Order: sequence, then C-alpha cells, then structure tokens
Amino acid sequence: MKIGIDQIGMATPAFYLDLIELAQARGDEPEKYTIGIGQDQQAVAPSSQDIVTLGASAANFLSATDREQIGLIVVGTETGIDASKASALYIHDLLELSPWCRALEIKEACYGGTAALMMARDFIAAHPQQKALVIAADIARYGLASGGEVTQGAGAVAMLVSTSPRLLALQDDSVVKSGSIMDFWRPQYTDLALAKGKYSTEQYLAFFQATWTRYQVETGLDLNDFAALCFHLPYTKMGLKALRTALPAVDEAKQAALKAHFEASCQYSRRIGNLYTGSLYLGLLSMLELDGHLQAGDRIGLFSYGSGAVGEFFSAELQPGFEQQLHAVAHQHLLDSRQRLAVAEYEAVFTDKVPYGPKDYQANSKYFAGPFVLTGVTDQERQYQRL
Ligand code: CAA
Repeated sequence: MKIGIDQIGMATPAFYLDLIELAQARGDEPEKYTIGIGQDQQAVAPSSQDIVTLGASAANFLSATDREQIGLIVVGTETGIDASKASALYIHDLLELSPWCRALEIKEACYGGTAALMMARDFIAAHPQQKALVIAADIARYGLASGGEVTQGAGAVAMLVSTSPRLLALQDDSVVKSGSIMDFWRPQYTDLALAKGKYSTEQYLAFFQATWTRYQVETGLDLNDFAALCFHLPYTKMGLKALRTALPAVDEAKQAALKAHFEASCQYSRRIGNLYTGSLYLGLLSMLELDGHLQAGDRIGLFSYGSGAVGEFFSAELQPGFEQQLHAVAHQHLLDSRQRLAVAEYEAVFTDKVPYGPKDYQANSKYFAGPFVLTGVTDQERQYQRL
C-alpha cells in the first residue's frame, strides 16, 4: 500500500521586510545576508497572524470530501498559543472539518512537522479509508538586532496524507537520531528563541552526517540513487553547507544536478525565511514547483532537523502526474502581492504582540489580511475570524 502526500499548500503573512534594507539599518554588509546567510526577504507576521490563521490558510486546498474523510489533524509547531489546548482544534473549527476526527499538537522544535508527517503515515496505515491533515506552522522570532534576526520568518505548510498519493509516496526508510543538547530553545517566559548560533550549525551538520551515513548502510542506497536532496532550511546557506558535505561522493555532472535542484528548493525560503517546522516542506514545495527537471519515479531525500535535538533522513518517490498537484502560479502571486514594510514599521509590528497576561487585546486592523485573522483576545479567549 502506497502512503504519502496527496496535496500540499503553503501560507505566509501578507507583509515582508527587504533584507538589504535590514542590513543597512543594522550596519552589516548586505552580502552577508544575501550570500553569507542566503536570504533576500523575510516574512513579517502582524499580531493578527499566528499558527492558527497561517495553518488554516495553508490548507485552503481541501475539498468537501477531504473534510469528511480527515480522521486526524496534527499540528507540528514550536510557536504554541496555549500550554493546554491544541492549535489543531482552532484550525479544525476554521476549516469546518468533520467532528469525527483526532486533533492534536506535537512539539520537538523544527522536527515537529516531520514527527506529524510520520504520525500521519502510521495513522493511514492503520486507517486506510481515512485521510490525515498535517500542518507545520511557526513564527520564527529571535529579537530586534539579535544575531538570529536575519533568519526570522513566518508561515505554514499543510499536507494531506492518504493512500494512493498523487504527489509523493513516503518510503519506509527513515533513520532517526535523538540526543539532548542545548543548541536552540525557548524558555516559557519569552516568545524569542535562544540560540547558540555557531554550535547549532555544527550540531545540524553532525546530525545530518550521522543519519545520512547510517541511512546508506541500512538501505544500501547512495547519493546516485537520489534525484535530489531537500534540507531543513533555517536559512538557505545552512542547507547548502550540508549538501556540500555529501557531494564529494558523486561525479561532477551529478554534483551539478544536485546543486541545481537544491537551488530550486531555496527560492521560497529566500523570500520567507525560517518556518521552523515547515521549512523542510517549504523547500520541498519550492523545488517541486520551480525546478522543472524532476520526473515521476525520482527519489527525493529529505533531512529534517529539530534543535534539542532530533534529526531524521528519509525519502519519498515522485508519483505520475505529480505536476497537477502543484500551484506555482498562485504561490508566486502570494509572494509577489505582499506589502513591503520599511525597517521602522517592521520594528513596530514586531513589538505589537498579544501580551503574556490576562488583559484583553485588540490586534491592529490595519494589518488584517485574509483568509483568517486573530482579531484579539477577550476574557483570555482568542478570537478568530474569516475575512
Ligand atoms: N559577503 C559574503 N558573505 C559574508 C559576508 C559578506 N560581506 N560577511 C559575512 N559573510 C558570511 C560569513 O563568512 C559566514 O559564512 P559561513 O557560515 O559560510 O562561514 C556567514 O556570512 C554568516 O556570518 P557569521 O557566521 O559571522 O554570522 P553570525 O555570527 O551573524 O551568525 C547565525 C549566523 C549563527 C546563523 C545566526 O544568524 C543565528 O544564530 N541564527 C539562528 C540559529 C540558526 O538558524 N541555527 C541553524 C542551525 S539550528 C536549526 O536548524 C534549527 C532552527 O531552525 C533554528
């Protein structure tokens, strides 16, 4: 029985920051951001956008039949909006899914989206008549003028998992490594992540090396068996660094092909920034929609990394007719139609946030953009609305 991704969608806020302008404002060389880090623009989430509004928007491809058949909705996130109630329930409500459904949230830093995808695969193996909705949604915040500021971002990727998937069949070949380390985390008193920047990049590479090496031993496959590799992209240069460690195993022509596919996988991330749980899948979507040289039957390798840390390497096979499941023109429009914010306005938007406290809060309607918004918090209950 084939199980995999039948449909995929993405969402990102309607506002962005130009990173050359940010570099100038911070006194950095623009090339450090655009080449050294590999980012051009950054999504800016007003307080009216959170993992619920973005997650629900990313799943706008669902048909009435899908809504009836979804027996599991699982949100992978590290930007939780409540310590108890799952964001999946708010999304379940906004999307008007069937009540006969499990709804939950899952957490392990940027690995949460992959954990959710693997849970969905297992769920479908046990319940092949149903479908599972996986949402990876996050708002990456490090703080104004912080070391990680250039790698912030916001958005969500939604994936519908089913039998006979029309896009990608997940292979049962995962190699996963876990180990408790302190490279990146977020204490409960703050919405800003803490990162040991350089150490975190070293750990990312070490987890990639470990899982990729073991994967080859366990499966007997090597890099020549892959049409392309996709990486978790906290910023695009990070994925490039990982790819470069694998390339010496193949000849120059294969290296060039892998680099070209990787370049296609970076295009959406370069304009959005880090989606944490969604970054790997945003890269996958970018590659599928913009590459143009992949074909049915191709094996794609995926490396997921969540600080703290869990790393997983697995693969998926492109299905016949996969092109018809993609929406490159709509996604191009989504990115092109965003409003650019000057640095001062970005800073004001960044600082206006739902308070950690019991007071009512009203989001600034100047930044309301659909399809879903958080209008505010009343009596400690979040208020959502479809525009
Ligand atoms: N032209 C071209 N390149 C330039 C340049 C210029 N003028 N100036 C600097 N650079 C290059 C540097 O040489 C460097 O390249 P290499 O990494 O290839 O050596 C690159 O720009 C970055 O420069 P620095 O290392 O000096 O940058 P920094 O000290 O400001 O820190 C960072 C970079 C550590 C990534 C920081 O942005 C950060 O802490 N980010 C958040 C943490 C993160 O994303 N970690 C990734 C792994 S953890 C993970 O993956 C989970 C997750 O999602 C967070």
